[in-house]
Amino acid sequence: MSKQILILPGDGIGPEIMAEAVKVLELANDKYSLGFELSHDVIGGAAIDKHGVPLADETLARARAADAVLLGAVGGPKWDTIERDIRPERGLLKIRAQLGLFGNLRPAILYPQLAEASSLKPEIVAGLDILIVRELTGGIYFGAPRGTRTLENGERQAYDTLPYSESEIRRIARVGFDMARVRGKKLCSVDKANVLASSQLWREVVEQVAKDYPDVELSHMYVDNAAMQLVRAPKQFDVIVTDNLFGDILSDEASMLTGSIGMLPSASLDANNKGMYEPCHGSAPDIAGKGIANPLATILSVSMMLRYSFNLQDAADAIEKAVSLVLDQGLRTGDIWSVGCAKVGTQEMGDAVVAALRNL
Ligand code: IPM
Ligand code: MG
Repeated sequence: MSKQILILPGDGIGPEIMAEAVKVLELANDKYSLGFELSHDVIGGAAIDKHGVPLADETLARARAADAVLLGAVGGPKWDTIERDIRPERGLLKIRAQLGLFGNLRPAILYPQLAEASSLKPEIVAGLDILIVRELTGGIYFGAPRGTRTLENGERQAYDTLPYSESEIRRIARVGFDMARVRGKKLCSVDKANVLASSQLWREVVEQVAKDYPDVELSHMYVDNAAMQLVRAPKQFDVIVTDNLFGDILSDEASMLTGSIGMLPSASLDANNKGMYEPCHGSAPDIAGKGIANPLATILSVSMMLRYSFNLQDAADAIEKAVSLVLDQGLRTGDIWSVGCAKVGTQEMGDAVVAALRNL
């Protein structure tokens, strides 16, 4: 039976990087007879322009029906002044929530070829391989109440809420432990339990779940310390599990250890490993349309899709190998460029990965 993949390029550099990822996906589809059928739709600003909302009901229905979703990036200055409830980002948050994609995997792996591109000394990042497991459908991103009210003194006050239930914490903790179990067997749970009630419960529940994983070494770290440790000695981490907001911030930080956020893919999974795959970076409006964006994070997201949603380990390995070979050839987009390498654009980079994959 054919497998349906919904492609949502989004805004800004989204369509440019997605075009390259789709080339790689189509080649893998042919080469390994994967039986994928691809269809395209809009999300974010593109959907606002077309439907007046950042995620149309019919798009959501197609995403539900699909076996996996591949997404580019959303947002841009054109829609910045739109009312908050229908901003492009809302479309992204809605699809994550509606599909129940609570488990967000963000690997930060340093390709040895890019050690020079990292902002840290090569010896601090050499061999870096961290997995950030971010809770994606709860916490302050979705908590109610939220809004703006006028105080008695006439001043406006805005507020958000950071709720976490035991079941929400338990299921993301399990993802963290399961991942740690098949990797370096170390899980660091990041919270702010010295201040936040939600973090106190988080820590308690993670401790309970740990009893089912005696083979995994659990530690806890406050988020401010974790932010510092990530740049001081990042190799102390194997898997990090954390809440939605902390995970958003720490994954951007971790990405820079690897040279560029343009290298980081992600998987967002539901309870049955149905997933949506997207690069960790945003729509980069400043470079959109210039053909210089790095498509590798999206291409690597394709590889994560093959791995996690379809259990196609060989095809996933092949795509990662192709990316590594292209880096060996010295090809670099601007974000990962260093002296002595050839600077290439989005399309050239995509074509090079396609060529490398074809020859494997
Ligand atoms: C990310 C992004 C999104 C987030 C934005 C675009 C809403 O920063 O995927 O990390 O905050 O989750
Ligand atoms: Mg982010």
